[in-house]
Amino acid sequence: MMKNLLLSKGLPSPCGKSRNELTETLLREEYGFLPEAARVSGEILSVEKNFCAGKAKLEKINICCEGSFGSFSFPVSFSYSPNQKTPCFVHINFRADVPDRYQPTEELIDSGYAIISFCYHDVTMDNNDFRGGLAGVVYPDGSKGNRDCGKIGLWAWAAMRVIDYLCTRPEIDTSRICVVGHSRLGKTALLTGALDERIYCAFSNNSGCSGAALSRNKKGETIEKICGKFGYWFCDAYKDYANRESELPFDQHWLLAANSHHKVYVASAEEDLWADPDNEYLSCVGASEYFEAEGKKGFVHPDRLPIAGDCFHEGNIGYHLRSGKHYLSREDWQLYIRFLERQ
Ligand code: GCU
Repeated sequence: MMKNLLLSKGLPSPCGKSRNELTETLLREEYGFLPEAARVSGEILSVEKNFCAGKAKLEKINICCEGSFGSFSFPVSFSYSPNQKTPCFVHINFRADVPDRYQPTEELIDSGYAIISFCYHDVTMDNNDFRGGLAGVVYPDGSKGNRDCGKIGLWAWAAMRVIDYLCTRPEIDTSRICVVGHSRLGKTALLTGALDERIYCAFSNNSGCSGAALSRNKKGETIEKICGKFGYWFCDAYKDYANRESELPFDQHWLLAANSHHKVYVASAEEDLWADPDNEYLSCVGASEYFEAEGKKGFVHPDRLPIAGDCFHEGNIGYHLRSGKHYLSREDWQLYIRFLERQ
């Protein structure tokens, strides 16, 4: 039944293509090409030694990047237990607060994880102005070419620089670095995962249109709608696919397939119809064969559409559908941890 649903959408298969070909297509047609990597160093601004009743340390750090395009720095918050080497989440967040309503920091520490987070606005503002922050450094006159990356690419670039820095920290098990984001930042987390080999798992929370969800026959938000309001998240060429989804040479399951060098996780919320939970799920189904062609377990799921409470943690594509609205909840985090423990 699920296979027939997918076939009826006429999806281009990612199979037979290398991961580079997948990411090249996604960058050229959708997100745009990112700036080159940079030399990264961390400047510790402050240390709170007795964070979370003394279980953790909280450091504010400036991530300083020296690239061929110039230099740029942005602040991050790093919470970790000083007594053991732990896995770490890189959380691309809407706010700089720690903890935050999207980041239950103490609970993560108690579960044996460190977390490093930054506010996406501290990288570059979420608007069509390319003169400020990282955008202003990379695009000095504030204008960019048709295939240059939009804001999602710049936020993903910053997440990779945070990973560069994390890899210098002895407190972290660098074989267990995960990236997490919600909604527009879930799209960003998936792109980061596709581009970065060092990640263990990329978690997309309610990322929807131009994130985890297939664009063909999508309910809720479409390419036309997203480009109308948020065209600056993408490369300029992407808008040419508005109302022409069937002509896309790829679909969003390629973004999940491009994460096949590690694990990838798609979290949906039942009432998040704008994101289209069914199409997020079908994207996992569509990406599965790419993982399997690499000899890995892909998406292990029943032959039906999902219902709230479903949680599929057996394969390298993890998934859950929780009840409720568009949100990065404590419940989502707990299921992420359950998936990681199971793996
Ligand atoms: C809007 C946008 C979505 C996005 C969401 C968010 O609803 O249309 O594509 O995911 O904002 O980031 O919260």
